[in-house]
Amino acid sequence: MADPKAFYLTTPIYYVNDAPHIGHAYTTTAGDVATRWRRQRGEDVWFLTGVDEHGTKVQRAADAAGVAPQDWVDRLVSQAWRPVLETIDAANDDFIRTTEPRHRERVQRFWEVVRDNGYVYSAEYVGPYCVGCEEFKLSGDLVEGSGEFEGQLVCPVHGRPAEELQETNWFFRLSAFSDRLLAHYEEHPDAVQPRSAYNEVVSFIRQGLVDISMSRSSVAWGIPLSWDPAQVTYVWFDALLNYATAVGYGAEPGTRDAELFASVWPPDVNLVGKDILRFHAVYWPAMLMAAGLEPPRRVFAHGWLLVGGEKMSKSKLTGIAPEQIIGTFGSDAFRYYFLRAIAFGQDGSFSWEDMHARYTAELANGLGNLASRATAMVVRYRDGSLPAAHDLTDAEHRIIAALERTVEVADPAFCDLDFSTGIVAVKEFIDLVNLYVTEQEPWVLAKDDQHAGRLDVVLATVCESLRAIAVLYNPLMPKAMGELWDQLGAGGQLGPIADQRIADVARWGQLPPGTRVTKGEALFPRIEEVE
Ligand code: MSP
Repeated sequence: MADPKAFYLTTPIYYVNDAPHIGHAYTTTAGDVATRWRRQRGEDVWFLTGVDEHGTKVQRAADAAGVAPQDWVDRLVSQAWRPVLETIDAANDDFIRTTEPRHRERVQRFWEVVRDNGYVYSAEYVGPYCVGCEEFKLSGDLVEGSGEFEGQLVCPVHGRPAEELQETNWFFRLSAFSDRLLAHYEEHPDAVQPRSAYNEVVSFIRQGLVDISMSRSSVAWGIPLSWDPAQVTYVWFDALLNYATAVGYGAEPGTRDAELFASVWPPDVNLVGKDILRFHAVYWPAMLMAAGLEPPRRVFAHGWLLVGGEKMSKSKLTGIAPEQIIGTFGSDAFRYYFLRAIAFGQDGSFSWEDMHARYTAELANGLGNLASRATAMVVRYRDGSLPAAHDLTDAEHRIIAALERTVEVADPAFCDLDFSTGIVAVKEFIDLVNLYVTEQEPWVLAKDDQHAGRLDVVLATVCESLRAIAVLYNPLMPKAMGELWDQLGAGGQLGPIADQRIADVARWGQLPPGTRVTKGEALFPRIEEVE
């Protein structure tokens, strides 16, 4: 039986201590492509993203700017975090802010349930805390520092010493969940991906879990505990719950929110960067088990965008704003480049040169050129009316068979978040069709009326191929593929591009003869110079 549950995918919620950089946009883009692909398969989808507004890191950023934390987050969210979604062309279904009442109330309710279930107790925490990570560090987490921190232990991500804390907090009895988590992961070996992340998580749990503070007594900017309002919820134990609160956890039965929760839970994918794997693959499922909820089906940890071999970050002043790249190349090329050039799950470096080279070779010369040649020829040789194709030869049958294989590779790849494999499968089909055009030489066929029938076949074959390419790349590059759909005149015949189904894409001959083809703007205009 088909799964009646909606495909539910989340991104991490991003700290609003600063504006977004391309590392944040990378995760959201991946989530957007994955969910658009699922929609295009005809699945019900819920795609959630949002922002993490509490904690010391955000509070200190607001203090440094001399504004109240609420004013600080309001300003950054409206001026930077919401607009970036439009910049990268994300089609999220919801956007959660952790300062919203729906979140605050449900977080409080959640921890009451966990406390009632016996998993919360009061104790003293003494130990290191990294504000950059907002994390209580364990022995073994810190590494030898260098430079000004030579001889000290530092956070491996932020390169600086952690702060020493001593405070009386409420603790979450994480240690009670070691065996259940191990059993869960044994039973669901795909619940953490890629495999290296799974292995890391399982070996971390095997070392034995220690209880962890779920509240902070020395922090003011957060969600107060309902039973001890002098303390706020530890920011991670507030933030992780966004995945549940945003879809209606704890809503009154019978309400729309309660229905939403029933239709999406558990998340199919919690998409995260590898820096926050432990929170998502250890603490988060344990919290859910403690509250009697099902853990996520899959936590996928992707790699980092690196600058000079290190994780790109605003705090190290290496962050590049998405607008910088999108201003030059456009959102489609941005989406294409990062998912094509870096195997999802591995680290990768961004360079303007590489971006420009791939843009030129694969988008401007590859797909863009194929589309402009095809539409220009239909306009020029057939007055913009798509011809009927009779008597296909082996050359056309090879294209038809190649399209079937393309879908067979691309569909599981995109479903599996293996974007580069999916993208390359379509790219190879584009290369094949470009080669077909070169070999068939329609410009030569056009010179002799005797070859009119053959020219019809070639033009129809290329346009039909482009119809399929537009659909397959629509989740990745919605703006350009929408434009291509218009140029092919496909909308009037087949309906909106987003309604085309992946399962039907390889069915040949969907664009009927007589379809009005127009030559529009270049899909990927040439870009001569980059910074
Ligand atoms: N607020 C927490 C997450 C809470 S989720 C319940 C947080 N926020 S963050 O702003 O630091 O962003 C974390 C996410 O942004 C990473 O997990 C990753 O998805 C993305 N990235 C931030 N920098 C990145 C790179 N340099 N490269 C790739 N992704 C990066 O942690």
